Amino acid sequence: MNTSPWTAPKIKALKGKEKIVCLTAYDYAMARLVDAAGIHLVLVGDSLGMTMLGYENTLPVTMDDMIHHTAAVARGVKTALVVGDMPFLSYHASIEQAILNAGRFIQEGGANAVKIEGGAFREPLIHALVQNGIPVLGHIGLTPQSIEVMGGYKVQGRNHEGAKQLLEDARAVEEAGAFALVLEAMPSDLAAEITATVKIPTIGIGAGPACDGQVLVLHDVLGLYGDFKPKFVKRYADLGAQVAQALAQYRQEVQSGAFPGPEQSYE
Ligand code: KIV
Repeated sequence: MNTSPWTAPKIKALKGKEKIVCLTAYDYAMARLVDAAGIHLVLVGDSLGMTMLGYENTLPVTMDDMIHHTAAVARGVKTALVVGDMPFLSYHASIEQAILNAGRFIQEGGANAVKIEGGAFREPLIHALVQNGIPVLGHIGLTPQSIEVMGGYKVQGRNHEGAKQLLEDARAVEEAGAFALVLEAMPSDLAAEITATVKIPTIGIGAGPACDGQVLVLHDVLGLYGDFKPKFVKRYADLGAQVAQALAQYRQEVQSGAFPGPEQSYE
């Protein structure tokens, strides 16, 4: 397994050679486990608004929330590339605002790169960030910060116009200098076409098997978040049920006097 730190250029160079494995993480303990598993890229997603902070969606997440969690993740990671997800309204007002906020992810959060939602219309912004030394992971398709405009969490690019737009978006993000591109919730054949068109790696989430890599939300993978499981999620563990069982046993043993026993007590 690779032990030298992943960089944005190294991740970019994996296209066509090795599938890129990505997961989200939001805290030190999980970041250590994700990193030790040999995951290439750890995304501190603004999905933490739901998984860690209990919001209904990602829109209330602030820059301070993101920096706090990114710094904890960065302290737990030795080799994965740490990508900080720029939250709603942190890069929308101007390029200057975006550079200052992206810079906070690097300086205060210890991130190696940032992720930005949006396609062709973000080309000047992505270009400016990269020119100023900040690697960018693009994100097109279903972009959760735009759910109010999209009318909910809907698969994108299902019709000819939508598919054409997403292809244009992918080319623009590549042209702007992004090192890789997240494709979220789109038909597999469209994701395959985008993957074959651009030279940067595509990282799919609900975008089928042809992408150059995959990303999932850690809490979905481990069964730690909610009862609803989107179609594209595969649950690799049911930790929620295990935690519930452990806590019920702890409660029962404290109340019955079985805990603490002699092994947990001082003479
Ligand atoms: O916030 C997030 O976790 C994301 C991934 C789902 C791509 O944007």
